Amino acid sequence: MAQINVVPMPAQVKINPGYCVIKETVGILMDYIDDDNNGAREFEKYLSKNYRIKKIVEEDTHSYGLPTEFICGILGSKHAAGYYEIEVKGQTVYIKGDSQGTFYAFETIKQLITKNKKGELIIPHCIIKDHPRFPYRGMHLDVSRHFFTVPQIKKYIDWLAMYKFNSFHWHLTDDQGWRIEIKKYPLLTQIGSCRAQTLVGNYGSNLYDKGKYCGYYTQAQIRDLVRYAKERYIDIIPEIEMPGHALAALASYPFLGCTKGPYKTMETWGVSDDVLCAGNDSTYQFMEDVLDEVSALFPSAYIHIGGDECPKERWKTCPVCQSKIKNEKLKDENALQSYFTQRIEKYLNRKGKKIIGWDEILEGGLAPNATVMSWRGEEGGIAAAKQGHDVIMTPGSHCYFDHSQSANEDSITFGGYTPLEKVYAYEPVPVSFSENEARHILGAQGNVWTEYISNEQKLEYMIFPRMAALAEVLWSPKEKRNWKDFERRLPAIFKSYTDRGIRFSNAYNDLKASVIPLPGNAIGWQLETKNQHAHIIYREPGNEKDIWYKEPFIIQTTGLFEAAIMDDKNNPVSNWQKQEFFINKATGKKISLVTAPSKSYPGSGAFSLVDGIQNTKGMARSAEFLGFNGKDLDALVDLGEETTMDRVVLHIFQQPGSWIYPPASVNIYFSSNGKDFSEPLPCILGSPADAPALLYILRPVNTQARYIRIWAQNYGTIPSGQPGAGNPAWLFADEIEAQ
Ligand code: ACM
Ligand code: ZN
Repeated sequence: MAQINVVPMPAQVKINPGYCVIKETVGILMDYIDDDNNGAREFEKYLSKNYRIKKIVEEDTHSYGLPTEFICGILGSKHAAGYYEIEVKGQTVYIKGDSQGTFYAFETIKQLITKNKKGELIIPHCIIKDHPRFPYRGMHLDVSRHFFTVPQIKKYIDWLAMYKFNSFHWHLTDDQGWRIEIKKYPLLTQIGSCRAQTLVGNYGSNLYDKGKYCGYYTQAQIRDLVRYAKERYIDIIPEIEMPGHALAALASYPFLGCTKGPYKTMETWGVSDDVLCAGNDSTYQFMEDVLDEVSALFPSAYIHIGGDECPKERWKTCPVCQSKIKNEKLKDENALQSYFTQRIEKYLNRKGKKIIGWDEILEGGLAPNATVMSWRGEEGGIAAAKQGHDVIMTPGSHCYFDHSQSANEDSITFGGYTPLEKVYAYEPVPVSFSENEARHILGAQGNVWTEYISNEQKLEYMIFPRMAALAEVLWSPKEKRNWKDFERRLPAIFKSYTDRGIRFSNAYNDLKASVIPLPGNAIGWQLETKNQHAHIIYREPGNEKDIWYKEPFIIQTTGLFEAAIMDDKNNPVSNWQKQEFFINKATGKKISLVTAPSKSYPGSGAFSLVDGIQNTKGMARSAEFLGFNGKDLDALVDLGEETTMDRVVLHIFQQPGSWIYPPASVNIYFSSNGKDFSEPLPCILGSPADAPALLYILRPVNTQARYIRIWAQNYGTIPSGQPGAGNPAWLFADEIEAQ
């Protein structure tokens, strides 16, 4: 059966035999009396730019007998927003829908156009009836950490339109830069839009790009972008962060802070203790003034007020904040943030606007009409929906496009591992939800934080093709979502990016290398490719000889192994994948864990701790770590027989800025029978000089034993003043080594 390659897959598709040929002139016939022909206009530009095809009419629905005609009509009865129908019959394409539906129909038609063997442009005969599953289909962009120009934002909006997204969440203010002109407070853009330098190394490193970094949008530019987005049926939702992530505002107007400064726009990433003073009425006056101008610029019903990651350090010692808590009879500092949010909500509601906030706004009591954006997993969204609030799902696990998408990323990413398959598998409605609760899930959104996305090329690379996967999650009926079929369409999807000059990640076609247990307590390297017409070769440490890969093979020596996918002429068609193995007495041995790692960082289970892979660089590949959220690591390794050991090492990773802490304590015990264990002896802590984020905990021994128990106690609650304060700390471990 003939198939189409449209993304997101339409709700109903019937493909008929035959096709319509697009000739060098086409007619686009509209029966709209207003001039809201955005879909047709965009389509016309698309045809002329990509195929040099001319349009000759756009007046009414009367057929002029032209070689190819697109006839647009309005649907009579009421349909869901965005509903459209297409029928391709003979040499005519009939389109029905309101102006938004017609716009989407043309986006679908662009993707239906292919070339046949004769080189003709064709559209298959078909009938399509289509409408979106979720009303909120969002993409976010952080322009504070890195700035994107007006033409770049227009391109971004085009990409959203291509995949029928309808919401652009524009993160305009943060610690690292204030990017929106506010007439009443000119210093916001004179001072707050600049920072003196920018972190370019890994978070926690000391590697800076020394140049001054600035950028902001004038109100005229913003009006232009709002109009541009509206023509593409995209609502721009501005985010003005408060009361945290506000250092750029504080640097501009120090009266906004509890300590009154001096402050400077942040040059590194993470979270600042300096936040807006929530006790001082002049802070509220400032925000109301800002929101007056923001409301006038953005017709969106929503304004995002941030609310995430607001440390309470300053408020605890600020007399003004403390007297606000007392006078308003608030329970604590969380309640003070809730007071802040509710006061702002009330102000915006009076202006006919609704607020969206990150899920932290649940803490201390939710503002009555707020919509919650759930990012720290889905729990916040679930709690909010159960309280009758609307929710937009953006869990870090599936919707953060700043995460790596390849296990072998060749540039820095912020952390996390969210491959294409994972995005595609995302289901925004929690399984436990009733129909009533499900109605509160407005949709989901891909978040694009730009700490390590400093240019357009990287931006494209990070969002494509994951955005295609998310588009299908949000648009296509749940029962139509089919990973196998999406995989079938991927070559066409990639070709569409190449045709449009879009850079994208080819991680899907990476050589997939995994370490697996093999019989005899051995570890094996398994190499896979999705390319049916290719083969894989590998090289062993210190040997340039190419070995043709047939099946998983045992790794017996410490050293660097390399592998690549080769075409039939033996040219590599993938990057060389390198893997260093460290073979020791625990490698491949039987291991069990008292507590399983978190679902977000499961590695490949307990085996990951004895798979011969250690992280040796400052940059962790998170896929190889087991992560324990607030829980201990308690592992038992069975070496199989009495074994003499000089030392045992636990390899861990620490990055407090990302909530990852070293253990509070580590105890290592030995046993010959698996029942009676030795008393623990003190351990030594150390780090490789070139990779302070990696930490090993060494237990020098000179003993014989069969069993090793390693109990690493979780750090516990993240201390106040640190990013993620009050949340359980993560414990990350990647290997247990016995020498
Ligand atoms: C967030 O990622 N801090 C909302
Ligand atoms: Zn204060």
